[in-house]
Amino acid sequence: MGRVLSVASECVPLVKTGGLADVVGALPAALKATGWDMRVLLPAYRALRARTKGWPVVWEEPDLWGGPGKVHAGDVDGVPLLLLDAPHLYDREGGPYSGPLGEHPDNAIRFAALSWVAARIAREGLADWKPDVLHAHDWQAGLAPAYLAYHGNGGCKSVITIHNIAFQGWAPAHLLGVLRLPGHAFHPEALEYYGGISTLKAALVTSDWITTVSPTYAAEIMRPEFGMGLQGVISSRAPVVSGILNGVDTSVWDPSREDTAFDRKAISGKTAARERLCQDFGLDVPGPLAIVVSRLTDQKGIDLLPAVVPDFVLGGGGLIVLGSGDPGMEAQVRNLADRFPGRVAVRIGYDEGLSHRLFAGADAVLVPSRFEPCGLTQMYGLRYGTLPVVSMVGGLADTVIGANPATLAAGAATGVTFHPVDALAFGRALSQLLDLHRQPKLWAKLRSNAMAHPVGWETSAVAYANLYEGLTA
Ligand code: ADP
Ligand code: GLC
Repeated sequence: MGRVLSVASECVPLVKTGGLADVVGALPAALKATGWDMRVLLPAYRALRARTKGWPVVWEEPDLWGGPGKVHAGDVDGVPLLLLDAPHLYDREGGPYSGPLGEHPDNAIRFAALSWVAARIAREGLADWKPDVLHAHDWQAGLAPAYLAYHGNGGCKSVITIHNIAFQGWAPAHLLGVLRLPGHAFHPEALEYYGGISTLKAALVTSDWITTVSPTYAAEIMRPEFGMGLQGVISSRAPVVSGILNGVDTSVWDPSREDTAFDRKAISGKTAARERLCQDFGLDVPGPLAIVVSRLTDQKGIDLLPAVVPDFVLGGGGLIVLGSGDPGMEAQVRNLADRFPGRVAVRIGYDEGLSHRLFAGADAVLVPSRFEPCGLTQMYGLRYGTLPVVSMVGGLADTVIGANPATLAAGAATGVTFHPVDALAFGRALSQLLDLHRQPKLWAKLRSNAMAHPVGWETSAVAYANLYEGLTA
């Protein structure tokens, strides 16, 4: 059985700010069936420290930038974990990246420490467990492959997965030595990035392989429109870049396990869920009831809603938004709810339970992202027969089959897609949705197609296993 050390800053069920956590938490179980044994190295943030009680210490690091660190091994809900306890870095109030005063000023060092310990474990091995592959996720783990490259890899291969190239882990040049990176590598072909250091770039130039979370995003980030400054670096490594789609945890996202259980053949539970939702939110919606479950940020195209929702409502549609983020966008969606009582409702916040009820009861989920490396909510939508209305970017383009004459003739459509990402195209997609909803037979066919579309991890787990096998052969 091959061994993989997965290194990340978030992991379900312990700490989550986005889809990264879902993916990191799901991979170990998904890979088990392929014969790969994966453990996840994660910082022991304040809320996680209590979990390590009774867990054996499997690694001690004497000098982690101002204090020692200890790695405890254990298991939470079946996820094999290595929790790095270094109180001077991680025992702080707030989320993984910020506290009450905003972003932690020493984030470069906090995550360098995670990466340093990861690289040491990968190179030297624990007493009874030596990884064959180190799999780093995003900028937070970006220095781990770099440490293997510059300080010796002990025979361990490295993979970096880009979940979102917008976050690049920037640090000023004078930290180079502090971060234990070699001065000779400070040039544009290696570590230097716009006069400083990017920990993501460091991984992109040193890893044995680069993946991102959909084939379309893998191609997009080689272009300036999506590469956010790193397109040249990615293109220069094109032969070792691939896209592997995320899956969703189909035991957690399972319509037959919701309160109003339903499936593809017995759909009445979905109707019941819709009635409850409308009651709870005080809505009366004759046409399709749409939802948005999302971080409210520029990436997600939320600012397009004010331009398209009025016509959608006029055409009979309704909308429930669950999300939080940019204060300006929160105000924009609140304003829509004020303008259209009985048709539009908004819940600002993060609520996992409510998100399940929304997917169960709604007719459609809107994902108008400007860029989307993979996206998970359109896949929840497919699984729950909640038709995705998505922009044709990244993983959205790879998971949703938009209704058009060809896909309808082939009986293959699973949702509605639009391009480019602007209010005009989005508005037309919503009017197409209204139109499809007026044709009950066709709607039922689309819903049935959507629910039959595979969104689990099976295929992608095999793709990761093949990648690891290729690297270690
Ligand atoms: P991203 O990671 O870019 O935010 P993804 O679609 O990959 O986008 O993952 C987002 C995850 O966070 C999904 O599991 C989604 O359901 C969840 N999520 C986002 N906002 C909320 C919210 N307000 N309440 C509950 N779940 C949310
Ligand atoms: C990022 C991306 C999202 C992706 C998730 C998990 O947060 O924005 O598209 O699904 O990572 O890979």
